[in-house]
Amino acid sequence: MRNQVIIKKKISSYQKIINVSGDKSLSIRCILMASQAIGKSRISNLLESEDVLNSLKAIKKLGINYTKLDNQYIIDGYGLGGYKIKKDTIINAGNSGTLARLLLGLLVDINKEVTIIGDSSLSKRDFSRVTNPLKLFGANIKSKNNLLPVKILGSNFLRPIKYYEKLGSAQCKTAVMLAALKSPGKTIIFAKKSRNHSEILFRNLKIPTKIKKFKKNDYIEILGQKNFKSFSYKIPGDISSSAFFIVLTLLSKNSQIVIKNININDTRIGIVKILNKMNAKIRFINIKNYKGEKISDIKVKSCKNIQPIKCPDYLNSSAIDEFMLIFLVAAKASGISTFKNLGELNKKESPRLDLSVEFLKKVGIKVLRQKDNIKIYGKPDLFLKGKYKMKNFMKDHRIFMMSCIAALSFGGKWTIEDKDSIKTSFPKFLHILKKLGAKIN
Ligand code: S3P
Repeated sequence: MRNQVIIKKKISSYQKIINVSGDKSLSIRCILMASQAIGKSRISNLLESEDVLNSLKAIKKLGINYTKLDNQYIIDGYGLGGYKIKKDTIINAGNSGTLARLLLGLLVDINKEVTIIGDSSLSKRDFSRVTNPLKLFGANIKSKNNLLPVKILGSNFLRPIKYYEKLGSAQCKTAVMLAALKSPGKTIIFAKKSRNHSEILFRNLKIPTKIKKFKKNDYIEILGQKNFKSFSYKIPGDISSSAFFIVLTLLSKNSQIVIKNININDTRIGIVKILNKMNAKIRFINIKNYKGEKISDIKVKSCKNIQPIKCPDYLNSSAIDEFMLIFLVAAKASGISTFKNLGELNKKESPRLDLSVEFLKKVGIKVLRQKDNIKIYGKPDLFLKGKYKMKNFMKDHRIFMMSCIAALSFGGKWTIEDKDSIKTSFPKFLHILKKLGAKIN
């Protein structure tokens, strides 16, 4: 079977209740934290995608054993400093920037050199954003042109640092938080707002952490070298995976969907805030608190009258993985939408801002780009009839899935390559689409 899908028809109306897979950010964080806890941690509903499976393989290489029993992963940690590393250890982070960058934070104290490698997409991404602050702790890090492979040899004489995270990157913030765990004394981080799962987990694990929230930044203070106990965690559903079905439902006629048990942490729901400003009526129902994370069901109905948006850039970080889907909605809005300061989009698994502009133009949408700002000229009656082919998008899982949603909502005859890319973050994606009635070959 070829590694592509063919979509020839828009999806017919549907009314469905679905579950999506576990949150990727939380899955990776729970594995890494469990690998440093004392005792057996139990994680259920872990996302079983390549990024997460690579995280499990990574801790195994660091001497941490795990087993799977029913729907639970049991990870046996020995506390901070509990990794046992063989000579010449190489860890392959695959496609995952989160794994590679967070892991570097945890390796600042290791006594043997470890080499981190990744796939061709990850090997093009910049690592100086994490290696610069990690070197300040005292770790020895080598890389050519700030790209993978990155070699790290830890130090016995770490020092805490003061660090200003200016990109709004949770990966950078978390890498520093993890290195802070290993360092004596207080590390202070002043970070532009980004997803705060690590802070919530640290507090939950009773790691001495002080947090003060300001309008645009958060102040985080961590007292290092304090061991913490093993834990149990049930990973809630992923809003980034839900986003595909939220947008499909908005753009399809007479449809409705309820997506069960999703993490709706305020730092992750930029997409819902943005789409609701565009006249979507996305609702959170059955809101609960789980270990400091907000969880709810998400209810979405078709939206007949999509309004354009002047998107405030303070929402960028909380919607960072969802912009390509938001652009599809803007393509159907009755007017011009503007988005600003989206440079970080080009730092992802592929240059997503460049590729989004190309994509919108390909489907007949006028787009004006000025550096990292774009204007999308919406066409409420957009209806495609021609043939479309998607290839050469660096196997970016989110571009593959976004293209399927465009094909199912705009019409046209599509061939979309690199189907296997969904294994990175959401292996069940096509299966769920088919359950909604999508005709996909
Ligand atoms: C992630 C943070 C984001 C996001 C990525 C997952 C995380 O990256 O794009 O998919 O789990 O911390 P940045 O922190 O680089 O913005």
